Amino acid sequence: MANSDFLNDYKLEGSELKIFTYPAPILKKKAVAVEKFDDELRALCKDMLYTMYKAPGIGLAAPQVGHSIRLFVMDIDYEREEIIKADETKEYAYSEFNPLILINPKIENKVGELLYEEGCLSVPGIYEEVKRAESIKVTYQDLDGQTHELQADGLLSICIQHENDHLDGYVFLERLSSLKRNFLTKKYLKRQQKNL
Ligand code: NI
Repeated sequence: MANSDFLNDYKLEGSELKIFTYPAPILKKKAVAVEKFDDELRALCKDMLYTMYKAPGIGLAAPQVGHSIRLFVMDIDYEREEIIKADETKEYAYSEFNPLILINPKIENKVGELLYEEGCLSVPGIYEEVKRAESIKVTYQDLDGQTHELQADGLLSICIQHENDHLDGYVFLERLSSLKRNFLTKKYLKRQQKNL
């Protein structure tokens, strides 16, 4: 079985998890490999997908929700439509789910270069172009512990590299030149302080 049943027929179900923001210590730790493929892991993945779609974001790594383990969830394909109701409150309609769960990923065969403006749920309000490999090969395990190989290009490749960095304790700010990194980090921290 390539995917768990709930992935093949995804429904927006789960609990919303707290997303840790930079510079929380957990975001700077190197995460450890997942060893137990059990119901607890399955429940965490379900809640992570739910939290990612609600945020909304296209990727979410376990350290971002307080679990220092090597796994992330992604969906670069879904649609989210804003609906304004008669009483002027908003709700969102989701469709075209294509959830992915990558456990213990290993990136190989990095080829080419690509600049793309990235953002991160753990670094709210900051967007900047990051240089990544254009195409990669990634091997990973699914919820059943089965190993898969994925050839990824473009946005999929960028997203996997961004999420994989979270597992190694890096946020995208750390992939910028030191000049840009210092400028944006100061700007971000100043804004975070104001929001407290
Ligand atoms: Ni991120």
